[in-house]
Amino acid sequence: MNNFEFYNPTNLIFGKGQMEKLTALVPKNTKILLCYGGGSIFGNGVYDSVKKALSGVEVLEFGGIEANPHFETCMKAVALIKQENIGFLLAVGGGSVIDAVKFISAAVKFDGDPADILHKRILIKDVDAVIPFGTVLTLPATGSEMNSGAVITIEATQEKLTFGGAAMFPKFSICDPTVIQSLPKRQIQNGVVDAYTHVLEQYLTYKHEAFLQDRIAEAILSTLLEVGPKVAENPTDYALASNYMWCCTMALNGLLNKGVPTDWATHMIGHELTALYNIDHARTLAIIGPNLYRVMFDTKKEKLAQYGQRIFGLSGSEDEMAKAAIEKTVEFFHQMGMQTKLSEYTDDYAKTAGFIKDRFEKRGWKMMGERQNITPEKVMEIVALSY
Ligand code: NZQ
Ligand code: ZN
Repeated sequence: MNNFEFYNPTNLIFGKGQMEKLTALVPKNTKILLCYGGGSIFGNGVYDSVKKALSGVEVLEFGGIEANPHFETCMKAVALIKQENIGFLLAVGGGSVIDAVKFISAAVKFDGDPADILHKRILIKDVDAVIPFGTVLTLPATGSEMNSGAVITIEATQEKLTFGGAAMFPKFSICDPTVIQSLPKRQIQNGVVDAYTHVLEQYLTYKHEAFLQDRIAEAILSTLLEVGPKVAENPTDYALASNYMWCCTMALNGLLNKGVPTDWATHMIGHELTALYNIDHARTLAIIGPNLYRVMFDTKKEKLAQYGQRIFGLSGSEDEMAKAAIEKTVEFFHQMGMQTKLSEYTDDYAKTAGFIKDRFEKRGWKMMGERQNITPEKVMEIVALSY
């Protein structure tokens, strides 16, 4: 097992009716900026219960954070925070609102051009150099409520870039599974596939000696396979909703990657498809993931076979189990309402593979994946196979 440090300071408050705890969690001696997205919180009662919990506190609001949040939108909030001298941020929404708040938190006191945080992937480590924030999660998917990463799109250049650092953990996150009742089915399906792929990014690598990590990953995969299709149909079922939500948090709160190699190339390629064609994040993963496993088959097949055997009960030779495991994954993605070909989302795909290859080369992203063997040429092959 590789050496590791496990640091996660987020106070995760999980369950029904937990919103009332918000009152005690926020600071009382400063103005708070409540940040939200396109307005779903007004239709499902979340805004009202947040406002009730914050009565007596000075609260300003910043709405209109789009899905796949834009740098340009975040910078408007940065200006407002400076002007109003705001000391705490509250993200109320899904991964997009939480990620935007992470960026805003880092950008306010950043010494230099905040776009550099993204372009140069600057690690945000100093808690005194950020505005503290908490979250109220409304969409289980990304794990952003309990991790220190974020993904921001620069609209002007159509680039979707990641950043993070130890100062980017939420102070607290309120996770009430009943919030999923108002989610469109498509978003629940996205959430399940995003979380499932987060586990695969940290599991489908090569055999190692961190046996417990494998078993934890497999437990999350099996649970998502069990509850995913059902919760999309029955979002009011609390047993399904709570397990779905907890799986999503556990898939990307930093526990799974401890002591093991990780991949993340499916995400890096998928982000390009969102930046170029505005395809939902999870759907880009369903397009790219299986084709990445096909192209990188030789170096991933041991782990693919283990996944096939333990998760889908497959038998046969290593190659047979590994190949069948990829097909089972695609089957699950289809069951979760995903289309798994780029041509099913856009007609304008012919130059995508070459474009992404060139972009990665320019950025110096020449060795990705757990073995650093996913070169720009391999990326091109993966994307072309995804048409
Ligand atoms: O904007 P509103 O009106 O709130 O509507 C949202 C949005 O349209 C809606 N929604 C959220 N909660 C709802 C609801 N509608 C009804 N009822 C509710 N309870 O759902 C839509 C999608 O929301 P969004 O926040 O964009 O979805 P998600 O949570 O999937 O986040 C996706 C973003 O997170 C990034 C993705 O790249 C993408 O930008 N990711 C962040 C990660 C992280 N920070 O660790 C990791 C992930 O891999 C991912 O890359
Ligand atoms: Zn993801």
